[in-house]
Amino acid sequence: MALLDIAGLSVRFQTNSGLFTAVENVDIQVDHGDVLSIVGESGSGKSVSMLATMGLLPWTAQVSAERMAFDGQDLQQLGSRQRRRIVGGEMSMIFQEPMSSLNPCFTVGTQIDEMIKQHKGGSRRERHERALELLAQVGIPDPARRIKAYPHQLSGGMSQRVMIAMAISCDPRLLIADEPTTALDVTIQAQILELLLKLQEEKGMALILITHDMGVVAETAKQVIVQYAGRQVEQQEVRSLFAHPRHPYTEALLSALPERAAGQTRLPTIPGVVPGQHDRPTGCLFNPRCRYATERCREVEPVAAPDDPARTLCHYPLGRPDAEPSSGPSPGVSPETSSPSRPEVRP
Ligand SMILES: Nc1ncnc2c1ncn2[C@@H]1O[C@H](COP(=O)(O)OP(=O)(O)OP(=O)(O)O)[C@@H](O)[C@H]1O
Ligand SMILES: [Mg+2]
Repeated sequence: MALLDIAGLSVRFQTNSGLFTAVENVDIQVDHGDVLSIVGESGSGKSVSMLATMGLLPWTAQVSAERMAFDGQDLQQLGSRQRRRIVGGEMSMIFQEPMSSLNPCFTVGTQIDEMIKQHKGGSRRERHERALELLAQVGIPDPARRIKAYPHQLSGGMSQRVMIAMAISCDPRLLIADEPTTALDVTIQAQILELLLKLQEEKGMALILITHDMGVVAETAKQVIVQYAGRQVEQQEVRSLFAHPRHPYTEALLSALPERAAGQTRLPTIPGVVPGQHDRPTGCLFNPRCRYATERCREVEPVAAPDDPARTLCHYPLGRPDAEPSSGPSPGVSPETSSPSRPEVRP
């Protein structure tokens, strides 16, 4: 049984201009001790799917799911008290902006203590010992001094370490890290990732790492979900995703990696942005930015083929060994007419 088992998750927001579907039909399975990465550009619904899982979205959000279970417990059926015991305890989350997640008015020690008090309890002295131990575990030098510091006295990297200490204070079985390094500079980013992976391994906890950086995915994940405009467009094990991306969006994200763009004077980026509430196209949501898009892509929403383990949300998944990814379909020839019986095959 998977530790986290989510099927058919959708999130709609009630906005002034109507309902907006931010996440649609998302499936997430994470086993005990696994590392999963969710990757996609800004606005692809990564945070919203995780916040929905944690039950942390505002009341304007309508969350629905066929299945939403943590360790066999149906999260949708839990009362708020039971849910609070799981969220922040057995399943815990760290966010992109460490500075704004810490309360500026209280010392590091007080904030860690509050977490331990809520979920684990113990005497004041035991909690103090535990807090010192946690600070040491996340690599904070001189914990006895730092425990008395206020958030503004810490660097960005140190604050993120404190957030991690708080997140692991209750020995979670699942840690969700939502772009934990985005706000930090590059050398610190690497250290924080290393720390997260070290803790993940030592504690045998599962880790969901949310990122927009394929470089981070390459170094950390085993399983990867690629998300675009609220939909999962493909999922694969990391090595095969890098070797054989199935969705044109994944291919585009990969070709924007510095090492893949070697020799080019400018780093390629994907032209355009993820469509928001008011500019969602018909057909495939990626079609306006897709180099392979055809008439069919502009008109018909793709569904994943039932026999495709990567569940690629594309009319023409990449990856046929003899496919020629750099040439799109010839103009005027609709893929249906060129290969009616093999919808998987690129024209
Ligand atoms: N409370 C809300 N009300 C209305 N729309 C929202 C709300 N929260 C998020 N959205 C919208 O949902 C979509 C997905 O947002 P989300 O924050 O999950 O993206 P993301 O993939 O985490 O992006 P980023 O990389 O920037 O963090 C966006 O279009 C966003 O504007
Ligand atoms: Mg986000």
